[in-house]
Amino acid sequence: MASSVMNLNSAISDSTPTLVSPTVSPNLIATDSPVKLGIMASGNGSNFEALAQAIKDQQLNAQIQVLIYNNPGAKAAARAERWGVPSVLLNHREFKNREDLDRQIAQKLKQYDVELVVMAGWMRVVTQVLIDAFPNKLINIHPSLLPSFRGVGAVEQALEAGVKITGCTVHLVALDVDSGPILIQAAVPVLPSDTPETLHARIQVQEHRILPQALTLAVRINSH
Ligand code: GRF
Repeated sequence: MASSVMNLNSAISDSTPTLVSPTVSPNLIATDSPVKLGIMASGNGSNFEALAQAIKDQQLNAQIQVLIYNNPGAKAAARAERWGVPSVLLNHREFKNREDLDRQIAQKLKQYDVELVVMAGWMRVVTQVLIDAFPNKLINIHPSLLPSFRGVGAVEQALEAGVKITGCTVHLVALDVDSGPILIQAAVPVLPSDTPETLHARIQVQEHRILPQALTLAVRINSH
């Protein structure tokens, strides 16, 4: 299943022009010790997989300490198991407010000795509690060229607006939804025949490409 999705993605990416903001070489942190990542995901987890693969391919000097997920049965948890990464379910339905959930997330991440946190398809609004626990070290990926099309349904929003180019963004997390300093973006043309699914699939090819680079950049920023 995962490999057929990857085949589809690579077939599409070959035929689609794209533009990525300046490339970041993994060599930038080659001599440092691997950065300890915590990943937060709600669903599919293809970005989790892309990070695990980038680490394996030595495109990212990191190790994944833990996956936090909030939906029982999230595919991301099965992926983590396949990669031998511990996963922790923190079901938001069992917390009385967002702050309580974020406090628990921060505590778990610290318990696993996490240095850099990636919200890779985390479909919950985060609070200042989590942002303060990881200043400049909380990162989000979003399927649009921010600041356009923030929030849920970014791909649908782009199609409805009729833009001819959209894309994806990796950024440091600030309090407003899908806001904060931008690390990397990739542009993806919108085709006349696109549905939300086909466009999202091409955007995800680029997400998987820029997320490891963005983390390298984030490590760099934090080491200065
Ligand atoms: C991605 O498109 C990401 O930009 C958005 O949620 C989606 C997660 O995809 N925040 P996956 O679960 O990593 O496959």
